[in-house]
Amino acid sequence: MKVLGIESSCDETGVALIDSEVKSNAGLLAHAIHTQIDMHRAYGGVVPELASRDHIRRVIALTDQVLDQAGVAKKDIDAVAVTEGPGLAGALVVGTSVAHAIGYALGVPVIGVHHLEGHLLSPLMADPAPEFPFIALLVSGGHTQFMKVAGFGEYELLGETLDDAAGEAFDKTAQLLGECYPGGPAVSRLADQGAPGAIELPRPMLHAPNLDMSFSGLKTAVLTAVKNAPDPKDETFRCNLARAFVDAVVDVLVAKTIRAMKMTGISRVVVAGGVSANRQLRAALTVACRRRRAQVFFPPQALCTDNGAMIAVAGLARLQAMTAQERAAAVGRIRYCAKPRWSLAQAAHPDEVDPRQAHRNH
Ligand code: KG4
Ligand code: ZN
Repeated sequence: MKVLGIESSCDETGVALIDSEVKSNAGLLAHAIHTQIDMHRAYGGVVPELASRDHIRRVIALTDQVLDQAGVAKKDIDAVAVTEGPGLAGALVVGTSVAHAIGYALGVPVIGVHHLEGHLLSPLMADPAPEFPFIALLVSGGHTQFMKVAGFGEYELLGETLDDAAGEAFDKTAQLLGECYPGGPAVSRLADQGAPGAIELPRPMLHAPNLDMSFSGLKTAVLTAVKNAPDPKDETFRCNLARAFVDAVVDVLVAKTIRAMKMTGISRVVVAGGVSANRQLRAALTVACRRRRAQVFFPPQALCTDNGAMIAVAGLARLQAMTAQERAAAVGRIRYCAKPRWSLAQAAHPDEVDPRQAHRNH
């Protein structure tokens, strides 16, 4: 079965094609991403209207490019998977409209995918791929959470950030250090040149006896350090502060990952979301897991940030779990179904509402 995946929830247009008959890398045949980072940089963050317009410009061209690369004709696509939410409303409408148009024209099912489920399953494209069950550490620009993943669609929230996401803290720190959006890679590069321990920053909730986290205090501590610095533009200072910030985030995430393994008795961890591209985090988690004879899996580097491949993987898994009747119902159904605020718990179990998430519904 060949599944086309389309992602357009924020500032990346991603398209991919996977084939369930191909066993390596979760069947990935081809993928392409267009990032809008350069376009948004001048504004210091994503401008929703510009994002939507750019998705419109790119999505068809990227689809043609992916099909060409894979050597697959449009008529051979068996299903279309698309990010239905959460994300920017206008951006989601572009992807879902195109997916439904393609699905309608070809007479194939269209599968709505939760963006975080895509990230969660993206390490399945690693070689070797993890087996279920595993603990997932999702670290992106909008989310930082631990999930217990017992199987496909069986997700239990174990703990999450009570305020900012780790990626958001990276982006804000970068801004304070005079670096461009998105901040993760820039802060990581500066940190490589910094001296460990030259500046001390707090490790919020490190010792809290649960898997909840908090990063807004750390952001404030970075702001205070910048304000108090004799010369905040001094290169040594910038590198040392970046190093202190990265060390604090990594210490918290590693300690909580170890706690998650102890609490669940599961010694298999997957890390996903944009921040899983972070070199320092990958290195520290690899060492910590090796010490405990635990396994850790990351998505391929190019598939850590938003992409269509993870949406195709999640879509295929959903499709395989559907009955013939449900598949038939997903054909020719035109719905403008962008869900800007949509919890993963709701996506996995639409009939149940998780009380921890009910008040948020994102
Ligand atoms: O998953 P993603 O592409 O989009 C969301 O769903 O949010 O994550 C984007 C986030 C941004 O905050 C970006 O700064 C961060 O991932 N990021 C990184 C790195 N690459 C991207 N953070 C730390 N180190 C990196 N190398
Ligand atoms: Zn994402």
